[in-house]
Amino acid sequence: MESHLDFHAARALLEWQVELGATEAICDAPVNRFDLPEAQPRAKPATPAADHPPAQAPVEAPDPALVARDAAALAADLEGLAAAMAAYEHCELKRGAKTTVFADGNPAARVMVIGEAPGREEDMQGKPFVGRAGQMLDRMFAAINLARDAARPDAALYITNILPWRPPQNREPTPEEIAMMLPFVERHVALVNPDVLVLMGNVSCQALLGRKGITRLRGNWATALNLPALPMFHPAYLLRNPHAKREAWNDLLMLQARLREAR
Ligand code: URA
Repeated sequence: MESHLDFHAARALLEWQVELGATEAICDAPVNRFDLPEAQPRAKPATPAADHPPAQAPVEAPDPALVARDAAALAADLEGLAAAMAAYEHCELKRGAKTTVFADGNPAARVMVIGEAPGREEDMQGKPFVGRAGQMLDRMFAAINLARDAARPDAALYITNILPWRPPQNREPTPEEIAMMLPFVERHVALVNPDVLVLMGNVSCQALLGRKGITRLRGNWATALNLPALPMFHPAYLLRNPHAKREAWNDLLMLQARLREAR
């Protein structure tokens, strides 16, 4: 059906209807799905002739993760990486997103925080962790004197996500989406070269440690991409489960101690 709506307006309408409880899409006119299409005359098998060379074997679609790896490897700096990610066309999430959310903060920071994926607010502003969870994240790190806008590397944070595009309805990223975007994350970490990584929540742990179960992983230093990595509760989880803030505070103190030791 033709529509005068653009993609984002149509999606906003659909999301509104889902929020109201709609669970099925129904067409304007009924469709008889038992109606069989009229039998079409069978096409004659093609006879290869001198002026009609035989059809070529279909070209196999490239592996999206390999395409990402090649594109990421060519990026010589963060600007190049941001451009390579914005130009990557193999992830369906990109079609539904308004912006490619790359990173925020100070790339010279000793601490690089890796979250899951942008939400609605992040998608609108083009920056990671700027919604409610982001405000929580800022408050958490402020408690140990770290901030994304700090100029000094030892007081600063650099923040990114496993996925740069918002999944519809904030659903969990699929393993395929994570696998295809992982080469970009790996290159991102290599270019920033922080002293430590903070892995916010299960998606980040699954992607970089190959494990999830944040309740067990949190508070235990691990190694990801050859760097010390601290899994922590995601701030969105802390907003829903304020009783877990005590553990998050312990983790922040562990991070602070580690940064002091390795100065
Ligand atoms: N949650 C995330 O994991 N990342 C964001 O950028 C925002 C919310």
